[in-house]
Amino acid sequence: PVPQDLAGRHVLITSGPTHEPIDPVRYIANRSSGKQGHAIAAWMARHGARVTLVSGPVTLADPPGVDVVKVETARQMLAAVEAALPADVAVMAAAVADWRTDGESDRKIKKDGSGKVPVLALTENPDILATIGRHSSARPRLVVGFAAETNDVVDNARGKLERKGADLIVANDVSPETGVMGGDANTVRLVSHDGVTDWPTLSKDEVARRLVAEIARRLAATVGP
Ligand code: C5P
Repeated sequence: PVPQDLAGRHVLITSGPTHEPIDPVRYIANRSSGKQGHAIAAWMARHGARVTLVSGPVTLADPPGVDVVKVETARQMLAAVEAALPADVAVMAAAVADWRTDGESDRKIKKDGSGKVPVLALTENPDILATIGRHSSARPRLVVGFAAETNDVVDNARGKLERKGADLIVANDVSPETGVMGGDANTVRLVSHDGVTDWPTLSKDEVARRLVAEIARRLAATVGP
């Protein structure tokens, strides 16, 4: 049986990509299936937590026993996250697009046959993890981020821990040869102020199961019952 050690806790999770429209038919996005974030939401619910899952566009079913808020853009995701506060724990697993187009076209951009190509101007999106990690009035007691990297995985994760005000970063190598993107397996390293813990290659469901147990343990250690 799964311990009900998150009963009475509110856990806020982001998952999936964001889509940033270029025009009514095109968008910019990061690659993300949402499998890892959704699996974490499902395990949080099994531990008795009240779970709010803010999800970008994914093809996955809603996890059982979870409140799902569906969004498309980073700005909508941030608004939904802010609206869901307060929370005891935040797990920001979404692959948020760092940039959106500066001035979305309300009409389809047409290929006119002249060979001229449109130039997209980009502008920076809000950083949702940093906003929550550095929240002045409603920072969750435990803030967990992800770091998908192709090189210098631990150094980059340590940087994010500091810059984004997170307590824990789940770092993984997403170089194409790892097959992590869209796949069912993940090899992660947990980076916190206590140091680095390497986990073996596991299914995303098993990573979620262990991560939720670790978060429940850390939450109990920081706040008591
Ligand atoms: O800097 P990078 O995007 O690699 O950081 C990854 C972490 O930050 C993830 O936890 C991701 O969900 C979060 N993030 C965010 N908002 C952004 C960019 C990243 O919440 N605009």
